[in-house]
Amino acid sequence: MTQPSDVHATRAAYNAVAADYAELLRNELDTKPFDRAMLGTFAELVDASGSGTVADIGCGPGRITAHLDSLGLAAFGIDLSPEMVAVARKDHPGLRFYEGSMEALELADGTLGGVVAWYSIIHTPPARLPGVFAEFHRTLRDGGLLLLAFQAGDEPRHLDFAYGHEIDLDAYRLPPERITELLLQAGLVVEAQLLREPDGRYEKTRQAYLLARKPTRKPTRKPATS
Ligand SMILES: C[S@@+](CC[C@H](N)C(=O)[O-])C[C@H]1O[C@@H](n2cnc3c(N)ncnc32)[C@H](O)[C@@H]1O
Repeated sequence: MTQPSDVHATRAAYNAVAADYAELLRNELDTKPFDRAMLGTFAELVDASGSGTVADIGCGPGRITAHLDSLGLAAFGIDLSPEMVAVARKDHPGLRFYEGSMEALELADGTLGGVVAWYSIIHTPPARLPGVFAEFHRTLRDGGLLLLAFQAGDEPRHLDFAYGHEIDLDAYRLPPERITELLLQAGLVVEAQLLREPDGRYEKTRQAYLLARKPTRKPTRKPATS
């Protein structure tokens, strides 16, 4: 299948930075109590609902996949960048990682208890996000949970240098209210959200976290007989 040029650019950029990105962010979650709180709540709710397989989509070097695993979830990772997948497999040999795109997941309908997309929807042009959310909805089972993390805002950015490498990468800050609306249009209902201030080190904007659920289908009622 032919992919848009932005997808090729995103893959190339993350291929270039994979090893350095992994090194720089290896222990970042230790400094982010709010992020751990959202991931912990997600893990608790997925676990409580009894059907646990979780896809970490846009997993990068697998640090979030490994965190979900440490919280007791059966998590695996998917990423566009083969170099990221290679780093994830090397750093976390006990976990499963696959190459793939969130716009066309090679997963059967209704098979996931949860989906995490941690700072990974940020490179898809907003006009194509409805397609991404339709894929999340398709692959989640009824009652399954979605956790998104992204930089809040409303403007595109172009990055030509990151993690010690020259790159050519578009990224989008996104308005949480608009994302909530798009999720609802895809059939996913936001149950909790967190908007936190930048950490004062690398972050320049507010960070948004949305926890949404694919509602359990109501049983169809038999028509009353007289
Ligand atoms: C900012 S990194 C975040 C990585 C990881 N979630 C983390 O927090 O460390 C964004 C990741 O999303 C991946 N990505 C971007 N667009 C994607 C797509 N359409 N499908 C799958 N992965 C994608 C990139 O290759 C990259 O590894």
